[in-house]
Amino acid sequence: MRPALFRTRITELLGIRHPILAGGMGPKVSDARYVAAVVNAGGMGFIVGAGYSDPVEFRAQLVQCRELTEGKPFGVNFYISRQEGGVDRVKRQIDIVIEEGVACVETAGASPEAVVPLLKQAGIKVLHKVPAVRYALSAAKLGVDGVIIVGNDCGGHPGIYGISSMVQAAHAAQVIDLPIVIGGGIGSGRQLAAVLAMGADAVLMGTRMLVSEELWIHRAAKELVVRGDGTESVVVKKAIRDHHRVFRNASAEAALALDDAKVTDFEQYRPHVMGALAHQAYVSGDTSTGMLDYGPAAVFADTVESAEAIFDRFIDDARAADDRLGSLRAAA
Ligand SMILES: Cc1cc2nc3c(=O)[nH]c(=O)nc-3n(C[C@H](O)[C@H](O)[C@H](O)COP(=O)(O)O)c2cc1C
Repeated sequence: MRPALFRTRITELLGIRHPILAGGMGPKVSDARYVAAVVNAGGMGFIVGAGYSDPVEFRAQLVQCRELTEGKPFGVNFYISRQEGGVDRVKRQIDIVIEEGVACVETAGASPEAVVPLLKQAGIKVLHKVPAVRYALSAAKLGVDGVIIVGNDCGGHPGIYGISSMVQAAHAAQVIDLPIVIGGGIGSGRQLAAVLAMGADAVLMGTRMLVSEELWIHRAAKELVVRGDGTESVVVKKAIRDHHRVFRNASAEAALALDDAKVTDFEQYRPHVMGALAHQAYVSGDTSTGMLDYGPAAVFADTVESAEAIFDRFIDDARAADDRLGSLRAAA
């Protein structure tokens, strides 16, 4: 593992070596083993609560992660659904998170207002993830410890505005006085150097990490990412304002056709977008169906390797970018 290269508000807040976060990947993609690998490689990872609705299974994941990380801090992702019961589902898991000593939580989806006080009282750090700076400003008022802003390139949910990570990274630090994490299209260390230069404190990755050896998903699903150059990523479900950036397969094509026809009835999308299809694709390696979250950062994923190897190359690249800036400086 590379020694610490940067110290930022996020490395200090979370007690991690590198300012690198691996976003939660659902429903069960980022499990205890993968999150532990990310943490042991010097970053912060998040087990997705929504993947483990059975409390016994959820607790077992947390216990396993704690054992594998030997006491290092690790995180949980809470996706707060906007549908009825969304907040209650998360609240049911909060006691377990507290009891098992989880250090930090990545919230996403609806406003975290109802859960922030519960988590903060227990000393758990809360990072709220949003797809636009305007939402981060609202989250900052709720007492979160930091914000994660993902731009339009992100695998998963880029929001309705489609603002790039480049614009958001430069804008965020001007208007938000909290630790800032930038995600969406990140897969190289030079991007880390760039966002730190713009005033942010860390990066967050999803797609780039899909090739981690420690992920249980089928080897064929990882090789798909290795082969990809990012042009296979497409945003679907725009017609129902639930923009979703995924791998362009048969299910994505079907959703695109519904978008083109301006269909707003979710029931017509359901057969193509149900979570079970994506899970099946990761189990079987047949990626022709399922909404597989996938962004253009796939272009940086050139081989299947350990989380530690990914981070080592990332840090080396960030150092090279930092050196390059120094070498470009006019007149000493
Ligand atoms: C396979 C996959 C599954 C994801 N699942 C979730 C999820 O369940 N909850 C969530 O908040 N974000 C989820 N995300 C989004 C990531 O946490 C992260 O915000 C995003 O991947 C960053 O953009 P990038 O893919 O360009 O790196 C997922 C991303 C991927 C690639």
